[in-house]
Amino acid sequence: MQHFLSLADLTADELWNLLDLATSLKSEWKSGGNRPILANKSLALVFQKPSLRTRVSFEMGMVHLGGYALYLSPNEIKMGGRESVPDVARVLSGYVDGIMARVFEHDHILQLAEYASVPVINGLSDFNHPAQGLTDLFTILENRGKLEGLTMAYIGDGNNVTRSLMYGAALTGMNFISAAPADYQLPGSDYETGMEMRVSDSQTIDFISDPVLAVREADVIYTDVWTSMGQEAESAERLKIFPPYQLNEKLIANSKSDAIILHCLPAHRGEEITDAVADGEKSVMFQQAHNRMHAQKAILATLLQ
Ligand code: CP
Ligand code: NVA
Repeated sequence: MQHFLSLADLTADELWNLLDLATSLKSEWKSGGNRPILANKSLALVFQKPSLRTRVSFEMGMVHLGGYALYLSPNEIKMGGRESVPDVARVLSGYVDGIMARVFEHDHILQLAEYASVPVINGLSDFNHPAQGLTDLFTILENRGKLEGLTMAYIGDGNNVTRSLMYGAALTGMNFISAAPADYQLPGSDYETGMEMRVSDSQTIDFISDPVLAVREADVIYTDVWTSMGQEAESAERLKIFPPYQLNEKLIANSKSDAIILHCLPAHRGEEITDAVADGEKSVMFQQAHNRMHAQKAILATLLQ
């Protein structure tokens, strides 16, 4: 692994190595703290969009491993505006040992990786959110003890998070169902990628419109906001279309007794998820949020050590 840009770039072995490392780093941290395996290492955190989890979990992850993280806000660099992406990559490579970036255009992540001489980590683009996907697999593993054979249902907008989840599910032997309005499903090219990434022919990937059918089948139920960052102009239209896909008590009444509910957060409570479901007994969303730090430490340890 040279960079961490997409779960589709990983082999199943590389993904499992990250999950195993996340497990051991979390357990080490819980029993008194991590060893400073990244002493004197530094990570630039480049943001073109707001963040709570990604910013704090990467920064604290570096601190726990003995390293240093430098937050660079959207207005500070103005990557692609004040300065070209290749030049930002070349300059930062002389100062730091790694670059984590959150961008609008996925091409900016690809350009950073092309022109940087240090590892680049994707902290969300309009295309995908692989650090979130890794965290979510880790959280499911913690709760269910396995991934293979489980079914994940993603209810709502087919977006950057959905894409990383589908890739991650395919690579770890899970089945994946996306329930979304027809115009808001991931494109067919992603379906093809997911099918190619499967580790077994028996795994299924289904794109359907009925959220009840999806919830009935699911061991893991997932949702995310209906309007992602950068799509704010479509918000009113989306608010009209998506209500049948809200995770509420009526919909969740169709779920298996041991199903768990995940949300990458931030949640728009009252839109894609109600308070009763977000704070209900099946929800593991705060464990999931905390796990960002542990899963990403595995990425940092693998790339920067
Ligand atoms: N889930 C996630 O990436 O959260 P932030 O946008 O707060 O970083
Ligand atoms: N799909 C959301 C995820 C936020 C972490 C967005 O891109 O805004």
